[in-house]
Amino acid sequence: MTSVELNSIALSMVARKKGILAADESVGTMTKRLESVNVESTEETRRQWRQLLFQTPDLADYISGVIMYDETIRQSDDTGISFVDLLSSQNVISGIKVDNSTHDLAGAPSEFITEGLDGLRSRLSDYYQLGARFAKWRALLVVGQNKPSDYAINTNAHALGRYSSLCQEQGLVPIVEPEVLMDGTHSIDACLSVTTRVLKSVFVELGNQNIDLTGIVLKPNMVISGSDAIERASAEEVARKTVDCFLETVPADVPGIAFLSGGQGDVESVVNLNEINKIANSENLPWEITYSYGRGLQSAPLRTWSGKSENIASAQNAFHKRCIDSSAAREGIYISST
Ligand code: 13P
Repeated sequence: MTSVELNSIALSMVARKKGILAADESVGTMTKRLESVNVESTEETRRQWRQLLFQTPDLADYISGVIMYDETIRQSDDTGISFVDLLSSQNVISGIKVDNSTHDLAGAPSEFITEGLDGLRSRLSDYYQLGARFAKWRALLVVGQNKPSDYAINTNAHALGRYSSLCQEQGLVPIVEPEVLMDGTHSIDACLSVTTRVLKSVFVELGNQNIDLTGIVLKPNMVISGSDAIERASAEEVARKTVDCFLETVPADVPGIAFLSGGQGDVESVVNLNEINKIANSENLPWEITYSYGRGLQSAPLRTWSGKSENIASAQNAFHKRCIDSSAAREGIYISST
């Protein structure tokens, strides 16, 4: 895979009007989500849920790529067509989560390190054979007193670099996801300061490890108040501080930024993205800016479905609506319908 080919995949992932669907919940996380709507989590119910999403009419008008989990990328629809083929027949690119989740970081109480580097080269090669053309690795940084430590930031950034290097070697575009968790009472300025430190460290590591920045997609958090902050910053402030943070830290060679929703409310994740893209439209920023939402796209349709076959069409409608709103926000032209 050449640099030109990796860049072309990355550009397709962040194409205008489209974003990336994160449907890569691990079995444990998907079980929690299904149980929250009273659906027993089995391999079959997880397959049915993903099938519902992937068979939604006009999916490709809004979704450029789907991140899957190891179980999902090996599954098929009711007629036996593999999910990878179902997606590629609609021109939707398959992606795969390859990290093995976050674990306690030794020597740093209540901080985390993402594991999964051992054996990653051969797993990436297998996923490429299965049809994946991009991958995802999520690092998790917590905001708190004296947190995150430089140690947590730097070890996670180093791992993101190692992962990215292996991805590009194996022909997959790495989604680089350093998530500063929204949980907490911290202010937007605390988030700004931590996100700036994290992104600086990530791009130092990507540089040290010879990553081709034209062949990655960055998946960061927005610069936003903690979810339990007494006063939460407005969408305009979120957008201004997010863009200023990225102008300081994200090189112009990066083709695109695809935000995670990170537990924001459905409307909040759309309104904030819309404000960010309004700035992008007026200030001619160097990157495409879009969404790579999990909960932001799936929460409403999952509630509508609740495991019942008679609800499939209405759940697909609810998903479609989330896609339409997110796509409008990706262009900076979202108008609230309420
Ligand atoms: P959320 O949009 O639910 O934060 O999920 C995105 C994701 O892929 C987190 O790793």
